[in-house]
Amino acid sequence: MPVDIVVVGSCNLDLVVNVEHIPQVGQTVLGGDLQRIPGGKGANQAVAAARLEKSVAIVGRIGDDESGSLLQKNLEDNDVNIDYLFSSTGVPTGVALIAVQGDGDNTIVVSPGANSKLTPEDVIAAPPIAEAQVVLLQAEIPIETVLAAAEIAKGIVIWNPAPAPNEIVPLELLDLVDVLIPNKKELELLAGTKNATNLDSIVEMVQTFPCSSTIVTLGEQGAVVVASNEAVHIPAPDITPVDTTAAGDSFCAAIAASLVEGKDLIKAAQWAVQVGSATTLVAGAQPSLPTPKEVHQRLKDR
Ligand code: RIB
Repeated sequence: MPVDIVVVGSCNLDLVVNVEHIPQVGQTVLGGDLQRIPGGKGANQAVAAARLEKSVAIVGRIGDDESGSLLQKNLEDNDVNIDYLFSSTGVPTGVALIAVQGDGDNTIVVSPGANSKLTPEDVIAAPPIAEAQVVLLQAEIPIETVLAAAEIAKGIVIWNPAPAPNEIVPLELLDLVDVLIPNKKELELLAGTKNATNLDSIVEMVQTFPCSSTIVTLGEQGAVVVASNEAVHIPAPDITPVDTTAAGDSFCAAIAASLVEGKDLIKAAQWAVQVGSATTLVAGAQPSLPTPKEVHQRLKDR
């Protein structure tokens, strides 16, 4: 049976240290104990969608090392179909070095490892991509592989251009995307200007893209949905975050899950803002991804 959502994306082992303040260039700081946590934007979005009660498959690559086995088991334990999780011999599994500071903000350095070996041929070898209702893409795998997946997809294509690609994004990719989900920085990089300062400028920048709908995530300020020449701001609940890692990932998964349920984009974004906010109330990428019940509970208890 086809799955609801296929995620084509990265799997990383997150090496996380909590610090009081993220160090400046040239500075060394002491932090807490090192934690090893399953992460990667692709895997996070797949696990998040599964916790939101959707059937999910991932298409990705891990290395033939201990981290790869750990990430594979974690995906299986979270009911993500791994039939198209390929293993690369002699290549390390992706790793993310994460520092989380007191107010929940972070910095992340990713060493892509096996994620960089996911090819267009791999996605061509994965029939679930053409059968899924929603295909969810990010930017931690090669851009040509993202494009190949968007070309194969017959359902709704969501692209979360995170981290903001350094290379020029092929215009045909933006043409194939139904829902683009950048944050402000990613929007500026895609648009090639630095002025996402207010709602009007955000809408103006978004309208230069060929995709039919865009949702810009604004962190503690919520999100803006821009579709059919209309922009709607969705505010976020007033919370004190513990760790913002993976909040964008659970936001994207909640949009995908809502579209599978037939919700419109505004309703989808209202739910996604709650899911993203609830994610920031628990530490660590995948440990923080909530079920629908946990979303309500965490926001009630805050
Ligand atoms: O979005 C959060 C994720 O970004 C982390 O889990 C890390 O692996 C990086 O990919």
